[in-house]
Parts: sequence; C-alpha cells; structure tokens
Amino acid sequence: MFTATDFIPTPYTSTIEKGNFEWSAPSNIALVKYWGKKDNQIPANPSVSFTLNNCKTITKLGFEKRDISTSLNVTNSFSFDLLFEGKPKEDFKPKIQKFLERVEVYLPFLKDYHFTIDTQNTFPHSSGIASSASGMAALAMNFMSLERNLNPEMTDEYFFQKASFLARLGSGSACRSVKGNVVVWGNQANIEGSTDLFGIEFPYAIHDNFKNYQDTILLVDKGEKQVSSTVGHDLMHNHPYAERRFAQAHENLDQLISIFENGNLDEFIKVVESEALTLHAMMMTSMPYFILMKPNTLQIINAIWKFRSETQIPVCFTLDAGANVHVLYPENVSEKVLQFIKDELVVFCQNGQYICDKIGAGSIAL
Ligand code: PMV
Repeated sequence: MFTATDFIPTPYTSTIEKGNFEWSAPSNIALVKYWGKKDNQIPANPSVSFTLNNCKTITKLGFEKRDISTSLNVTNSFSFDLLFEGKPKEDFKPKIQKFLERVEVYLPFLKDYHFTIDTQNTFPHSSGIASSASGMAALAMNFMSLERNLNPEMTDEYFFQKASFLARLGSGSACRSVKGNVVVWGNQANIEGSTDLFGIEFPYAIHDNFKNYQDTILLVDKGEKQVSSTVGHDLMHNHPYAERRFAQAHENLDQLISIFENGNLDEFIKVVESEALTLHAMMMTSMPYFILMKPNTLQIINAIWKFRSETQIPVCFTLDAGANVHVLYPENVSEKVLQFIKDELVVFCQNGQYICDKIGAGSIAL
C-alpha cells in the first residue's frame, strides 16, 4: 500500500544548474464522476475517465539555480514568472503559488530555482473547458523531469505515479491526465492497484468498441461558472445523499469493468448518462443548491435521446461541472453522428462552437 510519504524523496544524488523541459498534458472526461473530497485532495469516491487527445495544455518550464548570495533574504519564498500564451499572466500566479506550497514537501528543490512557466492551451480560452486538469498535469510532468535529473535512478513507474500524485494536489481530476486511454483514480475493491493517491491506467481488457472512442464537446456556455468545483466538492459534506452517491460510484465502476471487457454499449450508455445526471442532481440537492446546466444543455440531451431511439446509433452524453455537453460515440458511427451534430445540435452551441476530440495517449514530453 502506498502512502503520501513514499513520494518524499531521499537526498538527491545529482545536480543541474539550468535548463528547460516541455510537456503536453491532455484534458480528460470522467465517466464515473469525482464529486466530493476529503482533506489533501483525497476523493470521496473512485472515478474513471477517458483521456482526451486534442484538448491539451502545453507547458514549458525554464529553470535556473538561484544565486544563494543574492537570494538569502528570499530563500523562503518561491521564485517564478508565469506566461500564458507568451505574455505575463499575473492572475494565474496565486493558483501556482498554492500548488507549489502544497507540493514543496515532495519536491524539496523548488526554492533552489527560479522558474519560468510558459503555458498555452490548444482549446480556446474561456471555452468553459476546464484547463486546470491539463494545466496541473503538464506542470507536474515538468517538475518530475527536473526531479529525474536530480535523481537519475528514478524508475519510469515512480516518475508517472508521482507526476499524477502531484497533479492531484493541484486539481483532483488532473491526476487522470497523466496516463492515457482509460484512467482510474480512487481505491476500488475490484480494480487492482487503484489508489486514492494517483491515477492508474485501467488495468483490464478494453473491447475494440472503445478504441478511438469519440468525444465531441458542444460549447453551450463559455462564461465563468457560477459555482466553482471547489465549492461544489465542499457541499458534499453533510449532503443528504452523499453516502449513497459514494457507494453508487463504486457500483458503477464495478459495472464498467465488465462493460469495458464485453463492449456492451447499451450498458455503457446507461452508466455514463446516469453518472452525468447524478452529478448534476447532487448540485441541485446541495444546500445551498445550484444548477450549472443551461436550457440548451437539456435541449441537446433530449435531441440525443430522440436521435438514439430513432436510429439505434449508440451515441450518449456526459457532463462535467458546467453547461457544456460531451457527446460520446464509437468511431464507426462518427460520420452519422457528426452529421447529426451539425444538423441538430450546433444550433444550441454558443456561436455554433464545438470541439472534436477522442480518446488519447496521455502526457507527452516535447
Ligand atoms: O478536479 P476538480 O476539482 O476540478 O473536480 C472535477 C469534477 C468533475 O469534473 C465534475 C468530475 C470529474 O471527475 O472530473
């Protein structure tokens, strides 16, 4: 059994003065949702997600050893510049500062360097697509590259597990953006190796039906969310249905184990859509209660249900903590579903915008 202290490194054996690394990390879309957490970003229930391919953050980390003589009075603080799309972005700094504080015990070199963090997303800013998952994962990968230089003995397994562990401390769901395809995060009795500490690649057979599974993200509302995920997670404390919900997530994940193996798309759809609606039901039954769906979210859901029942094409939806709709479908029906999206769903998207994505391979060193 892993514990967090396993990720506190032993003294480093190597040194490095300066350099830079660059990683891309994808977004991910949960099928069984993480909603509710304990202290230190420990999830209240296990979750599973598809790693995406096109929606990603690309982050370059420049680093240079700080001159101890000039930095004596500042060695107690982190030193970093943050650039977003090449330009300084002060409003992102507090989030990074908080992340550095949280991970410092696991990355004891952080105050030894000045960092330049240069980051960009492949998806439009303010698209309502959370960049925290891909952003925190990309940053964690870079820090692990640096740590690997300080400890060249590090195994690949440790590298990726710790990257996911660190990403989790930045934003829970970010830990599912390190590895590819199908990623499980959170201890689940029937999934070997699953842990609350980091995401693991789903360790069992996955039917060909799920190869290249498509996710077209319909941008329904690109505005700022009225209620942040942080507040939403928090409202699961003392939530009247919390306990039942957490148990249900375990059951749904159990069901997905056999569904991934046998490729039964009808059963897949039932679990996935139920999870999406349950997530939003938890929001609507919190105190205070809130609604993140918009009228067009429901228009899309109803249109998908109608299309599915008329055509028998196995297309379904899921939602994250917002109004956008992820339309999920197997690759072999892509053409028909894309036509349906263009004909009937684009009208419900803000400025007609949608993003075509699919299952992908996880974080990549550039
Ligand atoms: O990682 P957070 O704290 O932004 O929470 C994400 C929660 C959901 O996107 C709604 C569900 C999930 O499992 O990704």
